[in-house]
Amino acid sequence: MRLISFLILTAESLVRVVEAAGNSANGRQPIIIDTDLFSDVDDVGALAIANLLHNCGLADLRGIVLNTPSHYGPLAASVPFRPINNDAFFDSVDYLYGEYASKVAYHWPRKLDSAFSTPTPLELYRTILSSADDKSIHIISVGFLTNLANLLKSEADHISHLSGLELAARKVSELVIMGGEYPSGWEYNFGGVDPESTAYVVRHWPKSVNITYSGSELGGNIFSGQNLVQRSPPDSPVLSAYQWYVGRGSTTRPSWDPITTLYGILGLDFLSKLGIRPMLEYANTSGYNNVTATDGSNAWVNDTAVTNQHYLRLAGGISNHSMAALLDEFFTHDPSSRSCCQYEILSENAKDILFAEI
Ligand SMILES: *[C@@H]1O[C@H](CO)[C@@H](O)[C@H](O)[C@H]1NC(C)=O
Ligand SMILES: *[C@@H]1O[C@H](CO)[C@@H](O)[C@H](O)[C@H]1NC(C)=O
Ligand SMILES: *[C@@H]1O[C@H](CO)[C@@H](O)[C@H](O)[C@H]1NC(C)=O
Ligand SMILES: *[C@@H]1O[C@H](CO)[C@@H](O)[C@H](O)[C@H]1NC(C)=O
Ligand SMILES: *[C@@H]1O[C@H](CO)[C@@H](O)[C@H](O)[C@H]1NC(C)=O
Repeated sequence: MRLISFLILTAESLVRVVEAAGNSANGRQPIIIDTDLFSDVDDVGALAIANLLHNCGLADLRGIVLNTPSHYGPLAASVPFRPINNDAFFDSVDYLYGEYASKVAYHWPRKLDSAFSTPTPLELYRTILSSADDKSIHIISVGFLTNLANLLKSEADHISHLSGLELAARKVSELVIMGGEYPSGWEYNFGGVDPESTAYVVRHWPKSVNITYSGSELGGNIFSGQNLVQRSPPDSPVLSAYQWYVGRGSTTRPSWDPITTLYGILGLDFLSKLGIRPMLEYANTSGYNNVTATDGSNAWVNDTAVTNQHYLRLAGGISNHSMAALLDEFFTHDPSSRSCCQYEILSENAKDILFAEI
């Protein structure tokens, strides 16, 4: 437990966790976030949501692991994939988007001096899972699946007498993955870097534990971050990260990772948690995801015998615009505020938009 609290404290620049991580009592959903905080900035939006929902008692953020090797990501957030390197993001695809991780790391408070002083993502996963209550943890994967494949392949060790597969089956209640396209297609988290690990996780994940997929088609049409300049505190690292990444006067991005994180914490139950109607639903009651290991492309297979896998879509009557408005509420909310449950989390503006659709 000492290890875990140390690591949570290191995540200071983006995740200023107010309360010590506790147990899963009182409706706090324990979560681990597996992020590629390096290139796209929507990982910052995802951490902002996790931070806020932790501070107002809906989430219990147990740990963050990175699935990218740059040492700037961990200085901004938490423990890196190995081997660690000095790479800074350069947009060699669109020649448009800017680097933000090093800037966030060096211009906001942080406890971590060096990425090398952290355990590995696998050690952190095994440590958090072994000490968790059975069937309690939601793992929220918003990047590449390499760490999760390593977890599933891991053997018993000094941390736990259980294998990674046994830890996943016993301790995890849901795996939530931003990746793939539904019902079929190709997406970067699945196919861009490590398709073999993607296929491994999707095929070997224990059948007794639910997996929920958030596809590129969902977050890709929801543009959040639009009004960060007007609505964020001026010293917000979220605002700055979006400004540096998007650039040229805009802070608007698709919402792949934030939506996935919101679902990973609240599930479909927005009503009792936030006091608003459910905004997401499952698109399928049965079937499973079939991933091609060579390129990471995926296709949904109809199979009424498999019921532990789902993919998300917006609930009926909910627009891309109102989901974006909800996410913006989280991005711009004062992160240290504890009085942010139920209706209080939403501004009047967002309530007008959200309730107009009921
Ligand atoms: C898994 O998903 C099903 C919906 O198909 C749900 O009824 C069940 O409660 C979920 N299980 C857990 C452990 O969340
Ligand atoms: C499940 O998804 C498939 C697309 O792969 C779709 O054709 C089908 O209608 C869905 N089934 C249900 C029961 O929603
Ligand atoms: C799964 O994908 C593989 C590779 O694309 C394909 O050969 C196989 O037929 C698919 N399985 C099903 C059940 O669709
Ligand atoms: C999957 O099942 C649904 C519901 O039974 C059906 O409408 C749909 O056509 C099926 N899709 C495929 C790709 O077979
Ligand atoms: C979201 O945007 C996409 C792309 O413009 C559109 O196809 C889709 O219908 C929109 N969804 C809703 C629920 O309006």
